[in-house]
Amino acid sequence: MCGIVGAVAQRNITPILLEGLRRLEYRGYDSAGVAVLAAGTGIQRVRATGKVAELEKALAASPADGYLGIAHTRWATHGKPAEHNAHPHVSKGLAIVHNGIIENHAPLRRKLTDLGYVFTSETDTEVVAHLIAWHYSQTPDLLSAFRAALGELHGAYALALVHEDEPHNLYCARMGSPLVVGEGSGEHYLASDPLALLQVTDRFRYLDEGDHARLSHDQCDIWDREYQQAERPVKRYEHAAHSLEKGEYRHYMLKEIFEQPEAISDTLSGTLGDDHVLTAILGPEAETRLADIQNIHIVACGTSYHAGLVARYWIESLVGLPCQVEVASEYRYRTVVVPANTLLITISQSGETADTLAALRFARNQGYLATLAICNVAGSSLVREADWRLLTHAGPEIGVASTKAFTTQLVALLWFTTALLQVRDRSAPQVADNVAALRKLPALITQVLALEPAITALAQRFANKHHALFLGRGPHYPIAMEGALKLKEISYIHAEAYAAGELKHGPLALVDEDMPVVSVAPSDSLLEKLKSNLEEVRARGGELITFACESIDQEQGEGTISLPQVDDIISPILYTIPLQLLSYHVALVKGTDVDKPRNLAKSVTVE
Ligand code: G6P
Repeated sequence: MCGIVGAVAQRNITPILLEGLRRLEYRGYDSAGVAVLAAGTGIQRVRATGKVAELEKALAASPADGYLGIAHTRWATHGKPAEHNAHPHVSKGLAIVHNGIIENHAPLRRKLTDLGYVFTSETDTEVVAHLIAWHYSQTPDLLSAFRAALGELHGAYALALVHEDEPHNLYCARMGSPLVVGEGSGEHYLASDPLALLQVTDRFRYLDEGDHARLSHDQCDIWDREYQQAERPVKRYEHAAHSLEKGEYRHYMLKEIFEQPEAISDTLSGTLGDDHVLTAILGPEAETRLADIQNIHIVACGTSYHAGLVARYWIESLVGLPCQVEVASEYRYRTVVVPANTLLITISQSGETADTLAALRFARNQGYLATLAICNVAGSSLVREADWRLLTHAGPEIGVASTKAFTTQLVALLWFTTALLQVRDRSAPQVADNVAALRKLPALITQVLALEPAITALAQRFANKHHALFLGRGPHYPIAMEGALKLKEISYIHAEAYAAGELKHGPLALVDEDMPVVSVAPSDSLLEKLKSNLEEVRARGGELITFACESIDQEQGEGTISLPQVDDIISPILYTIPLQLLSYHVALVKGTDVDKPRNLAKSVTVE
């Protein structure tokens, strides 16, 4: 994902820009660049492909010092990774950097070409540079020109702009991609992520959707989308999100569970339009290529495999495409039948899991239409070797038991399902519904995280237990599987998940007062059937622990935790959270090493 840094001060800001880019490196990028200016000098632009270290070398060869500047790390979407496509892009005395996707770049490019603008890159960003320049030639001031250009853009953006005519002002705007303004003493900064600026400040103003701003070293003017002056309070950056510190948390796993609202917002950042998904993040030909897909195979290991199992329910019910899901260690060693126009999706937090990587390599000769990696590590082998990549932005996950990586994978898979549907039926109501539901997720998860005290109390019931059953139906069956996996990984209690309808076919024989039965029971079309299954457990003296929707909790009694009523489509993501908290608190009761359970590794890079 791209990164933006900007600064305006009364000292040379190039080192601030470079350090900011270094701090954004973990997000993944393929080229980097800066544009710097000082009063009386023109824009000095330096760009390089590869790492920020390459940019530093280029800057050593042609130094660019100044009081005002913008910088960028680029992750190619429109146009291959190459110096001429790297940001900043320039036009008639201005330079801009951009995160996001400009959906209407093609008609704008045609219009600007007709007006005589010459393009030197294949990017959608250069369109914005020329568009601002054109408006500036028509209007008396840069602010009006910037606003007029923003008014023509469709899609998602975070933008930063500098112009030789205003060597003391840094302009920026956001719509669908994050941007923060950093407060220094007698200087201002901006960045796509506050982490980039923690070297110089811990005080930030968070821009709202549709905001634009003008920063000088001693002044910060922010306007909302109606051009009204807006107050965005300065907030101190306190939490240790994405950092490698545990901060206030006792374990990384707990910290990572609580980071999920932010991890999901980050994963969605720049991927959603008003009522549709921005398919262009998969590349300029995404629409056509998505439309060609007639079958899907998903391959992964462990928790990532469970994410794939949920996606199968979504893909088959919403898009109507056949979808098969398999663990990579089996898939790679069997004869696979690949129907025409099949997409292979590999899912992995690390992107280095040996079996998943081998599966991707094996798939190369199997006649797939294309391969897609859904992954949390931008520079990983899986991402490098797949045709397409869809990054999750969970941030570093340290706890061996995967939590935020799983929910962000689900978010990416629901986004992808919606993209598949959208290219087939743009007006399908489910497209806009899914977008709205995804937007609501971070706040809903925050609500569910507040259930922690009740879940902590329930965990005591597992103190002397050696086995547990997890039940679910439909897309909540893989969620029950993930719940059982979490419990066994970190508390060493033997746990198995069953599709609740299978209970009578065997596991019911195990049920007695020593067998807690955890069920995932949202209010969906299968609830009545699930309730019958739970009665079967109750009748045999089994101890029920039920995660249910608040609208039905009255009927469930003690041992029930109520969750908010939500759209069915995002319910599997929401019901994951209490199961994570339950296994975490059971592990505390058991006194195990939560973050490093015995015999397990975070990244299994050998077969
Ligand atoms: C290991 C980890 C699990 C993870 C699995 C797959 O078993 O302990 O948490 O789900 O590998 O890892 P990946 O990085 O490919 O998602």
